[in-house]
Amino acid sequence: MTRWSRTVVAVDGPAGSGKSSVSRAAARALGFEFLDTGAAYRAIAWLGLERGVDFDDSSAVAALVDELDERVTTDPDDVRVTVGGVDVTDAIREPRVTSVVSAVARVPQVRERLNEHFRERLDAPGLPGIVAEGRDITTVVAPDASVRVLLTADESVRVQRRRAELSGASTADVTRLVVERDRKDAQVVDFMTAAEGVTTLDSTSLSFEETVDAMVALVREAAAGA
Ligand code: DC
Repeated sequence: MTRWSRTVVAVDGPAGSGKSSVSRAAARALGFEFLDTGAAYRAIAWLGLERGVDFDDSSAVAALVDELDERVTTDPDDVRVTVGGVDVTDAIREPRVTSVVSAVARVPQVRERLNEHFRERLDAPGLPGIVAEGRDITTVVAPDASVRVLLTADESVRVQRRRAELSGASTADVTRLVVERDRKDAQVVDFMTAAEGVTTLDSTSLSFEETVDAMVALVREAAAGA
């Protein structure tokens, strides 16, 4: 028996696997909400940059969580992120934020606080289900989710997809970016191997739509079997 008050779909995966866009589209197709957990880590990184925090000082980074007043909306058609009322939806995607966010994700006190926050969001009243994506959702945040998916793709495919998003970047640069992100994040949580009970969805030879359809099918199968 799950303790969740609604259907929780947990999605993990490495950089460039399509985690975010596929999860969002699947949520839309299912009539569910969508929770981008990475956005909260990015909001803290943004706040740290605003405050001029030393990201090597983990207690200074941990202290940011106490003053963090972030809101991440869960409408898959309109994901907006605010910190203290300031709209940072675009700012948190800037390279300066991406380059320090792993230092935020490494701090255990930050992870514990955010994980509690994510669990509250997953269980909050709202639409009949929610798709949540992030590095440790299937293993730490919601190991008892209704459906758990590890979305993967071969590294060369993930690099090509990221490259399409970053116009003008060379394959060598994007390979470095993707590999480096995975290496840093893998120091904190293992998101490359599926934990027991987690379904691996390999999108290497699937189109975007096929991947979304496969995820939606997994959720419907689980609902039919429940
Ligand atoms: O998915 P993303 O690029 O927006 O994630 C930003 C950072 O936060 C990245 O370093 C991974 C980390 N993260 C995490 O450790 N746990 C999560 N549940 C979500 C993101």
